[in-house]
Amino acid sequence: MNIVFFDKNVGDDFRREDLYAGQIYVYSPTPATTALCQLARDMCEEAFAPHDPAEAQHHVSVERYTEILKTLKPAFIHHPRCKELIRQILDEMRCDLERVCFDVPRLRTATSDEYLTSGLAYAFKPHRDTWYSTPQCQLNWWLPVYEVQADNCMAFHTHYWNHPLKNSSEEFNYQDWNNVGRKAAHNQGKSDTRRQSEALEPVKLDPQLRIVPEPGGLMIFSAAHLHSTVPNTSGRTRFSIDFRTVHLDELATNSGAPNLDSACTGTTIGDYLRGTDFSHIPEAMRNAYENLQTSSSAPNLTTA
Ligand SMILES: [Fe+2]
Repeated sequence: MNIVFFDKNVGDDFRREDLYAGQIYVYSPTPATTALCQLARDMCEEAFAPHDPAEAQHHVSVERYTEILKTLKPAFIHHPRCKELIRQILDEMRCDLERVCFDVPRLRTATSDEYLTSGLAYAFKPHRDTWYSTPQCQLNWWLPVYEVQADNCMAFHTHYWNHPLKNSSEEFNYQDWNNVGRKAAHNQGKSDTRRQSEALEPVKLDPQLRIVPEPGGLMIFSAAHLHSTVPNTSGRTRFSIDFRTVHLDELATNSGAPNLDSACTGTTIGDYLRGTDFSHIPEAMRNAYENLQTSSSAPNLTTA
């Protein structure tokens, strides 16, 4: 059974236990999530001017659209205010900033009616983020920039929280993908030939859960949840922001959500920044994770 909690005011230690058990937390907009959304809106509206960003796909060519995203997305990811605002969000959510680390936020675009579903607007098929070399304790934070609806949001395929799914994650190595695949994303047109971790058997999409927060409303869920981009039939492009967190206590013991079926190598651990001073994860821990063969092994670290 998976439970969705709304605006539940609990400490982060308590909440993480729930999240590692497959529960999902949803929060109403806060001052910091609203500010992060506003930053994204300002940047999107400038980039797509004179068009409404959610409608721009109906007015510009795929090639021009891709050019705009190629500039817009990195500009948002690396905008200096993003890190500050994420720190504020974590603080509002009662996280221990000394122990919680985050990565830079991504700006996602899910266009409608298969206008663009590859490369910079890749439509994620059902997957667990843990198939992509993340630690089992990774948590995903997701918020819509503009209004979303049931046919342009994301879906959780909850059956697979406690059922393994045959997949190709053993062929995935984050370091290799980062060196080769991400650069190639800019050159993808209508089709995407990058090697992604994917299911190797038919996925039972139902039962599925679609949560529709208001703009700036926040969802937090385990990276081990099977989830996907909903086929967008709304006529409007969905813009959303997501970022990830890990807690140093769980990293030290490689604990978190159960690993049912992930066998990837490599690690994303070098991407996370500590909430207080934006420093990277300590080198000894990074090295221990880089030497792991599978994410189910223990890194044998007791301190962070
Ligand atoms: Fe994902």
